Amino acid sequence: MRTKIKTILTGDGVDYKVNVKGWVRSFRNNQFIALNDGSCMGNIQVVIDLATDEEVTRNITNGASISVDGTVVASQGRGQRVEIKAETIKILGTCDSESYPLQLKNKPSLEFLREKAHLRFRTNTFGAVFRVRHALAYAVHKFFNDRGFVYVHTPIITASDAEGAGEMFRVTTLPFDNPPRTESGSINYKEDFFGKSTNLTVSGQLEAELAAMNFSEVYTFGPTFRAENSNTARHLAEFWMIEPEVAFNDINDNMDLAEDFIRYLIEHAMAHNREDIEFLAQRLADEEKQKPQNERSEMGLIEKLEFVINNKFERITYTDAINILQSSTPYKKKKFQYEVKWGADLQSEHERYLVEKHFKKPVIVTDYPEGIKSFYMRMNDDGKTVAAMDILAPGIGEIVGGSQREERLDKLTERMEAMNIPADELSWYLDTRRFGTVPHSGFGLGFERMVLFVTGMTNIRDVIPFPRTPKNAEF
Ligand code: 4AD
Ligand code: MG
Repeated sequence: MRTKIKTILTGDGVDYKVNVKGWVRSFRNNQFIALNDGSCMGNIQVVIDLATDEEVTRNITNGASISVDGTVVASQGRGQRVEIKAETIKILGTCDSESYPLQLKNKPSLEFLREKAHLRFRTNTFGAVFRVRHALAYAVHKFFNDRGFVYVHTPIITASDAEGAGEMFRVTTLPFDNPPRTESGSINYKEDFFGKSTNLTVSGQLEAELAAMNFSEVYTFGPTFRAENSNTARHLAEFWMIEPEVAFNDINDNMDLAEDFIRYLIEHAMAHNREDIEFLAQRLADEEKQKPQNERSEMGLIEKLEFVINNKFERITYTDAINILQSSTPYKKKKFQYEVKWGADLQSEHERYLVEKHFKKPVIVTDYPEGIKSFYMRMNDDGKTVAAMDILAPGIGEIVGGSQREERLDKLTERMEAMNIPADELSWYLDTRRFGTVPHSGFGLGFERMVLFVTGMTNIRDVIPFPRTPKNAEF
């Protein structure tokens, strides 16, 4: 039976027989193999008999897969507690080192590895990133399960635009070179697969709200799709989002839940993936060294994560944020590219100023002007702002978007009308406001942005195995 390398490295036994299988990371002096099976960051050193058949040793090349029977012994060399003295080595799959892309003399760049996403799991960096991603996904479910939330699977194909932003991918089986037309000449979606126009979902929120009207506390965690043409290091066309929805919570409860949740995720990863995070912290520190002194971040990855665990997030209103920005040095020196004025949305440069320069900690901005936020957000008493909350994180910008929902039917329909959102198509949503409506709140955490934050990676394409971005759907 195969033993995982992690089990051997983290155990304290010696002098026992094992079988291990994995991929060769290096082979030196025709004698020492560094073998990795992905169960942890570390390789196990396999020491082979110098008399091993040449036919076998010739095929022990980087990337080849092998099976080793041998004995775990105390290591003679430095740098490892134990190693395996090999008795039999079987080559499972050879690897042509001439054409193996990870065989480069120089350390391959992240950009290069993005083009080799089918192989990049096998590097230390991506091994660590995707083990952390897994741990965070597990922690999401654990956090909510332990608090009695019900996990609801919201649909991926939908006829509604939850965010009202019109950035959707259409789902259709109509022939697009010659679609059926109505008498007036527009496309006749009645003949389409679902008998209406459908899209990939941009959010599971509206359906989560329906379920919250029975379970009180629910969450959804699934893929979401946005056809926004944003080719940035923070945007994906296909990303994963976690959306809790809680009946009886107001905006303050909502902020408390989001803060607790983010802290819990970080703590979980720090406790369970220490080795990966330490490796990623070192990677980031090396990357920072390449930058000019004044562009380097003040904290290392681990310090930053500990800081977030130990400090409360700053909470300010949108109006405060605008005032702070308008009295800032970059504003006065006209360094901001986008305008700062009450009513305009905060751009990433403004968010980063607030978080990284002004407060130097995560910031929750609340009470945005109604004009820049979605139709379902609750109107405040001032009649101008809504009970929205965005969490801004250092190095990331917006990581969470949420709100208290408009539970009053008349106010909601009024707002939908003003925003040209067809009430008849959302009558099922409005029913929650007709039949036992309650105050309720929720938010969406962008999973990849959270993984970015915890791993210290800087491009969102490097924290999802196979990124989908404008003009790119390889693999
Ligand atoms: O702020 P957003 O658009 O909020 C919603 O979708 C609400 N329905 C959530 C809710 O209240 N239930 O998106 C939520 C989060 C953002 O803060 C960001 O972290 C992430 O989703 N996000 C993206 N992540 C990667 N690529 C994109 N294109 C993203 N768009 C949003
Ligand atoms: Mg948002």
